[in-house]
Amino acid sequence: MQNTLRVREIEDSDIEAVIALWHKSGVAPSWNPPERDIVFALRDTHSTILLGEAGDQLIASAMVGEDGHRGWVYYVAVDPEHQKSGLGREIMQAAENWLVARGCWKVQLLIRASNQGVKNFYESIGYKDTETVCMKNVVEN
Ligand SMILES: CC(C)(COP(=O)(O)OP(=O)(O)OC[C@H]1O[C@@H](n2cnc3c(N)ncnc32)[C@H](O)[C@@H]1OP(=O)(O)O)[C@@H](O)C(=O)NCCC(=O)NCCS
Repeated sequence: MQNTLRVREIEDSDIEAVIALWHKSGVAPSWNPPERDIVFALRDTHSTILLGEAGDQLIASAMVGEDGHRGWVYYVAVDPEHQKSGLGREIMQAAENWLVARGCWKVQLLIRASNQGVKNFYESIGYKDTETVCMKNVVEN
C-alpha cells in the first residue's frame, strides 16, 4: 500500500500544533499536562514523538519509546477529519519501524477503559489483548 503520510520526528516548533492535535483527537487526558509528557519523551534517545504530515498539515502522531525491555507507543492520534483512511495504520507502522530499528521485538500500548472501541483498530493491525492488569503509582515527592 502506498503511504500518504510523511513521517518525521517532532521539533520544538511543532509543540503547539501537536498539543492542538491531541486535544482535537481526544487523546490527551485532562490529568496529564501534555507539555510535560513531550519534554520527558524528548529528554534522550530512548523515545521520541513521530509526526505524520500531509502537505503542510500535521494530521497524525505517535509517541514511541523503549524501556530496555519492550517498545511502547502512546498518543496515537489521527486528526478526526482524516480518520478511517488508513493513516492510523501508517503512523503505527512508522512507530513499529522506529522500535525495530532499536532492537525491539515486542510493542505494547495502553487503552483506557473509556476508549474500548479503539481495540478494533489495534486488532485490525495485528495487536492482541495481553490480558494483564496495569497498575500505577505516583512516585515523585
Ligand atoms: C485510533 C485512530 C488513531 C485510528 O486512526 P484511523 O486513521 O482512523 O485508522 P485507520 O484508517 O488506519 O484504520 C485501520 C483499520 O482499523 C479500523 N478502525 C479504525 N478505527 C476503528 C474504530 N474506531 N472501530 C473499529 N475499527 C476501526 C479501520 O476500519 C481499518 O481497518 P481495515 O484496514 O480493515 O479497513 C483514530 O481513530 C484516533 O485518532 N482516535 C482518537 C484517539 C485515540 O483514541 N487514540 C488511541 C489511543 S489508545
